Amino acid sequence: MRNLINILDFSVEEIDRLIDVADDIIKNPESYSEVCRHKILATLFYEPSTRTRLSFESAMLSLGGSVLGFSEAGSSSASKGESVADTATMVSAYSDIVVMRHPKEGAPIVAAQHSSVPVINAGDGGHYHPTQTLTDLMTIRHEKGRLDNLTIGLCGDLKFGRTVHSLISAMSRYSGVKFVLISPEELRLPGFVKYEYIEKKGIEFVQCQSLEEAIPSLDVLYMTRIQRERFVSDDEYLRLKDTYILTEDKMRLAGSDMIVMHPLPRVNEISVAVDSDSRACYFKQAKYGRYIRMALIMKLLGLIKDDAAPAPRESEEEIVYNRFRCRNTRCITSVEQELVQAFKLTDKENGIYRCVYCETRQN
Ligand code: NCD
Repeated sequence: MRNLINILDFSVEEIDRLIDVADDIIKNPESYSEVCRHKILATLFYEPSTRTRLSFESAMLSLGGSVLGFSEAGSSSASKGESVADTATMVSAYSDIVVMRHPKEGAPIVAAQHSSVPVINAGDGGHYHPTQTLTDLMTIRHEKGRLDNLTIGLCGDLKFGRTVHSLISAMSRYSGVKFVLISPEELRLPGFVKYEYIEKKGIEFVQCQSLEEAIPSLDVLYMTRIQRERFVSDDEYLRLKDTYILTEDKMRLAGSDMIVMHPLPRVNEISVAVDSDSRACYFKQAKYGRYIRMALIMKLLGLIKDDAAPAPRESEEEIVYNRFRCRNTRCITSVEQELVQAFKLTDKENGIYRCVYCETRQN
């Protein structure tokens, strides 16, 4: 049984194939309208969502299946203190596939360990958001015609932006990709992404603070919202919130074939005037979300004839139990006391261990 917890759970070939299927769904929707008849998708959303939850629901309904679930933790037994493990055990008895969004990092890993049906991570804290990445990759392939040899600028909250983390890890597998990381000092990319997917792989990158300086060199500009809900101090959020605003003036500095993406929701970081620029792709990007999620549901339910080679298994990483305690307060282990502290050795040479759930480095 396959899950999608981290975008690297899928190989490059599998992702290509998923995008092919999504393209075919757009062309021939009627041939897919019954493929999930009598199948049930459960949506467990412990955090707010518009696009992700509704596009999953729309995807399952368009495949002829049904949907159940909750859209806030307050309306589930989580509010009574039920663990993710118990919820996953139960919900998987009522459904054929589970989609989970949770504020704690690593929660979908725990769900997958206890679920008897496939689990999809729809965003875990400030960690990952692999299905947004599928949408992003589909958009880039459509708009640029390729996924390699691209200079990608990521701008805004690179620290807490989970879509950024998943997109970088996915793009780091294509050749000729360069990253331009545009953020204030305080919101720079965390080590579990920068070190593991960029530096360790020898990928070219620049870190800077000025969007104006970076924009002329970009093929793709990926704007992000400052993630207010992850800040410890609201004053800090208020100080940083309008650091970047993409305006028509700044768009004049960009190449004529640069595309602008954003996972949405936007708060203030892209001026509405930019929407009518032909390079603005964020609404198209959101639309693709429905079709790629239809393809994903079919894949995980074994309904796609899939000859793409799966992701090679990571060379067995050594895991140590209860040797370190995760210091990340956003990690699922910080609230679910019964979980065993588990760390994997991600870098033998330098002796670096990272939490299995949230990838924070050991102290
Ligand atoms: C993103 C998320 O939830 O991380 N939204 C989405 O799923 N499209 C981005 C965000 O909330 O800023």
